[in-house]
Amino acid sequence: MRPVRNRLCLGLDMKTLTIRQPDDWHLHLRDGAVLRAVLPHTAAHFARAIVMPNLVPPVVTTRDAAAYRERIMAAVPEGSGFTPLMTLYLTETSQADDIESGFRDGLVTAVKLYPAGATTNSQSGVTNIEAVYPVLERMAAIGMPLCVHGEVTDPAIDIFDREAVFIERVLEPLRRRLPELRIVMEHVTTSDGMDFVRSQGENVGATITTHHLIINRNAILAGGIRPHYYCLPVAKRETHRLALRAAAISGEGRFFLGTDSAPHVDPLKECACGCAGIFNAPNTLACLAHVFEEEGALERLEAFVSLNGPAFYRLPPNERRITLRRYDEPVENERKMSVGEETLTVFDPMFPIHWKVEE
Ligand code: DOR
Ligand code: ZN
Repeated sequence: MRPVRNRLCLGLDMKTLTIRQPDDWHLHLRDGAVLRAVLPHTAAHFARAIVMPNLVPPVVTTRDAAAYRERIMAAVPEGSGFTPLMTLYLTETSQADDIESGFRDGLVTAVKLYPAGATTNSQSGVTNIEAVYPVLERMAAIGMPLCVHGEVTDPAIDIFDREAVFIERVLEPLRRRLPELRIVMEHVTTSDGMDFVRSQGENVGATITTHHLIINRNAILAGGIRPHYYCLPVAKRETHRLALRAAAISGEGRFFLGTDSAPHVDPLKECACGCAGIFNAPNTLACLAHVFEEEGALERLEAFVSLNGPAFYRLPPNERRITLRRYDEPVENERKMSVGEETLTVFDPMFPIHWKVEE
């Protein structure tokens, strides 16, 4: 029998997979009561996470990041070794010196570029990319990664085309002008995005979310509007989902997990103008094990969730291991969580979940 790299054990009616502990390279933890409710779910499975800065007000300065980090650390459950990797929200008045000092001190890992108006709490983002070139030049010089929300906001561009047009209008010129800048194209949703990333050098990577590997746009729109499948970038047609799956299971180093778990309490999702965001932190790894098993690629799950991300971010992979176990019967999953008086809906992958992370 061929030795199996990740200790994949196929028993008679039991299967376990032991891998290095994963990290989440794109996560929304929010603040206050929601932070305290959602963080334990990430901390239970992931060692580190790139924490998105789109709070109200946003996390713009290293001082903001230090204060937010404190609030996160106060919410980390006892005994968990979870480490938040902080990001700064890029504005047209961000200061290169402040960003550099946060990076050099190890307080800040990356900067996030939100085109103004592209998504939740992005109103302080960038309208004119020229205005932030001095900061981007500094980041290129010091090797600091830029995480990009890759969608144009031009109302003339169809929402399903916003990623492809962003590549053409923003990313390609940015690459030509600053080829040394390390870029993560966040939550890539199209085959255009994958083609772009593959056409670039090693300093361009991409995160892929759990939900974009599982749903296409029918989940949101066919047979009724389902707000809990609405996120940004919006899920695209099936051909794109299949391309994303191929990239995630390929083992290629430039693709890694960023769950984009983005909780909004139910009243903010189930209304006439619902917020974008899917809360998948509790069942992400179980869903991914399902996806990789379905694709016959379980032995490459570890690369996607635990190895490629640290390599891109120039961090060591985690030493701890976690074990995922497959059960014959579907595993009961919590569908709604309480946050004070309100509820929060967990991502429903629309298939029975048989995998569970062992405690
Ligand atoms: O669906 C999303 N939700 N996409 C984003 O880019 C932001 C996020 C959020 O903060 O809710
Ligand atoms: Zn996000």
